[in-house]
Amino acid sequence: MKVDHAGEHGAVNIYAAQIFMARFTAPTFVQELLEFKSHEEKHRSLFSAELQRRGLRRCRSYWLCGIGGFILGLFTGLLGAQAISATTAAVERVVLKHLQEQLLSLAHIDEGAVAVISEIVAEEQQHHDQSISHLIPGHILSNVINRVVTISTESVIWIGMRA
Ligand SMILES: [Fe+2]
Ligand SMILES: [Fe+2]
Repeated sequence: MKVDHAGEHGAVNIYAAQIFMARFTAPTFVQELLEFKSHEEKHRSLFSAELQRRGLRRCRSYWLCGIGGFILGLFTGLLGAQAISATTAAVERVVLKHLQEQLLSLAHIDEGAVAVISEIVAEEQQHHDQSISHLIPGHILSNVINRVVTISTESVIWIGMRA
């Protein structure tokens, strides 16, 4: 759950940086990104409350996720609409898989965590599906971003879970 909390912080920062860039590169996306960012802020505080309730400190990777997310957001925001949507689709696909696995392993063990994660999954699914709908199939830039972002997100979760 510490990794989830750090990840949501990363997501907030990806969107914050993309919103900054999208004002120039993809103005029609700004409204949607603002909505996604507000969801991620809510997810971050839900996980933060869960950590506090258990007397846990934030993950050591928290600031790294924030800075990494911001740099990823700036870079992909600069590349425009396809890059932005490809990033969200890839991040959310990996995140959803991670959350589904958590739901399975926490079922009947930690009902509080299951309730919070289930609530979040619905919105991550919405981010994922909406972003996929913006993607032009076979677009080279989004294919490259999909690969890079998938590998980076998987690595961050992998490292976080073992740190
Ligand atoms: Fe989230
Ligand atoms: Fe999300």
